[in-house]
Amino acid sequence: MEPKVAVIGATGAVGDVFLRVAEERNFPVARLKLLATARSAGRRLTFRGEEIEVEETSEAALADSDIVFCSATSEASRKWGPVVRERGGIMIDDGSAYRMEANVPLVVPEVNGDDLEWHEGIVSIPNCTTTPLVMALAAIRTVAPLTRVTAATYQAVSGSGAGAVRELDAQLRAYGRGEPVPAPEVYPHQIALNVLPQVDTFDEDGFTKEEAKMRNETRKILHQPDLPFAATCVRVPTFVGHAEAVHVELAHDFDLGAVREAIGQQAGLELMDDPANSVYPTPLNTAGDDRAFVGRLRVDPSIEHGVIFWCVSDNLRKGAATNAIQIAEELIRRGKL
Ligand code: A2P
Repeated sequence: MEPKVAVIGATGAVGDVFLRVAEERNFPVARLKLLATARSAGRRLTFRGEEIEVEETSEAALADSDIVFCSATSEASRKWGPVVRERGGIMIDDGSAYRMEANVPLVVPEVNGDDLEWHEGIVSIPNCTTTPLVMALAAIRTVAPLTRVTAATYQAVSGSGAGAVRELDAQLRAYGRGEPVPAPEVYPHQIALNVLPQVDTFDEDGFTKEEAKMRNETRKILHQPDLPFAATCVRVPTFVGHAEAVHVELAHDFDLGAVREAIGQQAGLELMDDPANSVYPTPLNTAGDDRAFVGRLRVDPSIEHGVIFWCVSDNLRKGAATNAIQIAEELIRRGKL
């Protein structure tokens, strides 16, 4: 099946990677519409060697699309999701707008692809920190049930979009020239040469929305609605690649070798773990790769049945564009378009 495809947010940080991943994976496309705001209308982007003009997102532009990928804003998702659904298409949405809705599957195909069976026209992809985490947790729980998860993240600025990438770049360049660093516009503080313990805005319980997303999405994808979970999400001055230090408590005793083996066997996950030779994943040595990576795997001696690991994935790829395209591939394979 060759679907007619539209991409809302084609000019953004994820949109750009989306086009490259679709080319690399030879994703079948009968017709491609590239959509954004009126600001970008008329820009030309290249797909498979062909220049395509960006259009303003509209009902007419979405009219006969089978699959609409949306990586724009929550407002755009909320506005266009119902339009796509009513016209019989499927929206694969990268935003948080629909993720926790009961009739919207939230999917990492290697973990809960079966949830695609009950979609009603909108499928959400998880937050870019949730995706690698649930892949590792899904592998570990084949060894022993999960009873508690805590995590600290180290998230790249591209997770906040192209504007944040420009902000870090401008700050680093100014610093390098010995000039005053430009005032922040995207973040509440300077991000260059700094780390910010704030990703998204704060809720009344003291957690950020990003931390709440990680918790709620992990529970939904793993079908463990009561899993004890707490995270601290931190923005760091890297361009691409989200890293996480994760501490997991298991229900019973386990063999670390079995955990290692389970991670090695999990589709889409790669073990990169040879600490004696300083081999472990970093944002730089995993950028541009579609897999998620795990390293620094070890027993947590501070609790009874604990395991600690470090994971990294390219937030624009497996954290966003690649996962979205894999969902579309899986929908086609299952005849669920
Ligand atoms: P535009 O480039 O015209 O502003 P990023 O996450 O890198 O900031 O990119 C966001 C993407 O979403 C851009 O392509 C942006 O288009 C697009 N976008 C933002 N708001 C809307 C909207 N209301 N409708 C459609 N596309 C939107």
